[in-house]
Order: sequence, then structure tokens, then C-alpha cells
Amino acid sequence: MDVWIRPGRRLRGEVRVPGDKSIAHRALILAALGEGESEIRGFDPLDDSLRTLEALRACGAAAEMAGPGMLRIAGRGPKGLGTPAGVLHCGLSGTTMRLLAGVLAGQPLAATLDGDPPLRRRPMDRVVEPLRRMGARIEAADAAGHAPLSIRGGGLRGIDYTLPVASAQVKSAILLAGLSAEGVTVVHEPVPSRDHTERMLRWLGVPVEVRDGAIRLVGGARWRGRAFALPGDISAAAFFLVAASLVPGSEVFIGTVGLNPTRSAVLEVLRRMGVEVIAIPTLPEGDADGPEPTADLVARSAALRAVTLEGALIPNLIDELPVLAVAATQAEGVTVVRDASELRVKESDRIAAVAQELGAMGARIEAMGDGFVVEGPTPLRGVTVDAHGDHRMAMALAVAALVAKGETVIRGAETVTKSFPGFFAALRALGAEVA
Ligand code: S3P
Repeated sequence: MDVWIRPGRRLRGEVRVPGDKSIAHRALILAALGEGESEIRGFDPLDDSLRTLEALRACGAAAEMAGPGMLRIAGRGPKGLGTPAGVLHCGLSGTTMRLLAGVLAGQPLAATLDGDPPLRRRPMDRVVEPLRRMGARIEAADAAGHAPLSIRGGGLRGIDYTLPVASAQVKSAILLAGLSAEGVTVVHEPVPSRDHTERMLRWLGVPVEVRDGAIRLVGGARWRGRAFALPGDISAAAFFLVAASLVPGSEVFIGTVGLNPTRSAVLEVLRRMGVEVIAIPTLPEGDADGPEPTADLVARSAALRAVTLEGALIPNLIDELPVLAVAATQAEGVTVVRDASELRVKESDRIAAVAQELGAMGARIEAMGDGFVVEGPTPLRGVTVDAHGDHRMAMALAVAALVAKGETVIRGAETVTKSFPGFFAALRALGAEVA
């Protein structure tokens, strides 16, 4: 699908972003493994979260929509999943495949996780290797551990494992496996990554100890289902925060966004770049809550300056780097992003993709092995660009299009359904010219 965007109109109004995708995967899994009924509110039908939901259903967890955005799941207990009838299709969802590899490795079942070709090419050895060390029987498509992954679950023992890369997916896969393992599981993180799994487990009453970069839990815990409210996804909000800051005369309000400190560095970075982002803390409504702080956000147009992004900050804003690259094209000075080689193994090689597509629009951007350098500000021009099969590239390019001269055509824009099916409609509702 091609989407056409014309610049020139200011953005004003309110955006509702989908319920957080990262947290949705965890909520679904921990609801299915809990006892009794769980409710997830603010659940949006994103391609990725639906893959996790369908896989859990195929393994025996009953789930139904009980109202708009309200999902009810009947928990099967910590070792209650069973062998599915067919292959579990993860589509393009790396989080589904990695988290479920950890879950299924500890269940009394046999299952195969597969994905679309781009997911088959993404690194899975990072979960296969530690899970095998825990005693998991996993067969991969090749020696490098790529999908499909065939798992015969059960018989796990806890491990003490140091993550070679800062990855919340790998950390979570091991912790989820640790729940059904014999003994103690400890994961050491080189740099903190998003801690949604740890928070949700604690909120469910499962003891999880975090000290000096080590997360520790004991296998065999049981927990009861609860009513959980998903916060709005800050990674989705980031596109609108940047769009509002770049388009003159804009002011955008985004309600109830998750502001987990391991996930919200994009706000601090935008402020460092000169953007006024107002965050007004919100409290849970009704009887559903959760362990994640939330706030209403307001962003306005501003004159931007360049920043250097590196080190421990990177895992905290890894998904926001494509749209921050767009911000950098309009910022005064040289923006440097380094220590971000993980960008090369996301839905696309995001270093190559931003350099190629923003470069085609006229940005002065240079790819490096582990990041990129952007010299700004440069006028952008509307051209035909490609989303590289990557939802965050499609949305970042849409933001760039809002400040380009002339019309931009985004090829492959349908990929936004991975995390934000209503993205283009939301942009249009703010006043943007999108067709
Ligand atoms: C995610 C962790 C990050 C992130 C991805 C979602 C998660 O990936 O990029 O979009 O939900 O745990 P890594 O764990 O590979 O860093």
C-alpha cells in the first residue's frame, strides 16, 4: 500500500495511541499462566499482540473480547499449556517468538514457532542458547539458531546467565522459563533494558529480586489473575511528539502514556533537543490498574538542537531512534547515535534504512557500524520512499514527510498494522494531509 503525504498543515488536537505492545505480550502470557480469570484493558488488535494471543489460544488458553479493548483470559496455571494442533505463527513479531520460546520451553508440550521470512532471518540464537543451557530441547532451522524453532518443553533448571546484549526480550524469555524451572534463575544485564516483565510479575505477587543489575526469581511460583490496564504505548506516542515539535504551530495531546523509567528516555532526549514536552501524571481509572506509571503528554513545535545519544541510554530508546533521526535532520548541529548496532537486527536494518530513505529526502545522514551521524538542519524534499517492511520506518518517514517540500509517497505503508493500525488516520485527524 502506498500512502501520500503533503506538508504544510499544522497538527492540532488529541491522539489516542494503542495500548503498549511490549506490555501487552507480557500481560497475555502471564494471564494465560495465572490461575483464574484475568482482564486486560486497553488491548488493541495489533498484528504482533494478536500473534501472541493466537499462539496462547492454540496452546489451550481461552480468551475473548468482553467489550471494546477489554480482553478476558482464563488462566491455565503455571504449567497448564498443552500441545497445539499446528505450527504457532509469529508473523513478524520477534517479541512473540522470543518470549514464547521461554514460556514453551517450560511447558509439558511440543510446539513449533515459525514466522514470516523476515522473522526467520532475525537472530534467535540469543534465546535458544540460554534456554538450552537451562535444559530446553529446542531444534532450530540451522546451527545459527534461526526459526522455525521446535520445542519439546519441560525439565528446565534455573541458570545464572549474563546477557551478551542488552535485550529485554532475551531477559524476559529466560525469566519466563525460570518460572517453570527447578531452582533459582538469575539474569545479569550489562545495561538496564525495559523491565515490564519484572514489574508485572511483582504486581502479580511473584517475588522478583533486582540488585546490582541482576534479576533473580525462584521457579514454581503461582499467581492469581487480575484486571490490568495497559498504558498507551510511548513508542507510538514518540512519532507524534516529534511531529508536533517539527511542524510549526502544532500542539498535540496524547492521553495516558506509559512512562516506565527504563522506556521513556525519548522524553528526556526531546527536552534536551529543545522540545517542550509536558507530562501530567495520571492515575488508574476504575478497578483495573498495573505497575506502570502513566502520564498525559503535550508537545508543541520548537526549534531543535542536535544531541549525542550513546551508552546506557540506547536500550531505553532503541525503538525511537528512527524518528529521532528525523528530528535530527531538522536540528541545529551534528547529532551522533552510537552503541546502537542492535538497530541492524530489528524489523529492518534500521541504520541502513534511515540513512537510505532520509538521505533520498535530502538529509545529510551517514551510516556507521553502530549508529548514524546527522548534520542539521537540512530542508527535506518529498520523494518516493520505502518502509523496508518496517512499521517504525513507515511512521518515521511519515513524520519526515510532514516537513518535506512537496509530496512524499511511502511504499509498503501497510506495515504500520504491526504496532499502530490507526496511525495514518490519527495523523489525518490532527490535520495532516494524508491520502
Ligand atoms: C522489546 C524489546 C526490544 C524492543 C522491541 C520490544 C520487548 O527488543 O526493540 O521492540 O518487548 O521486550 P530487544 O529485546 O531485542 O532489545
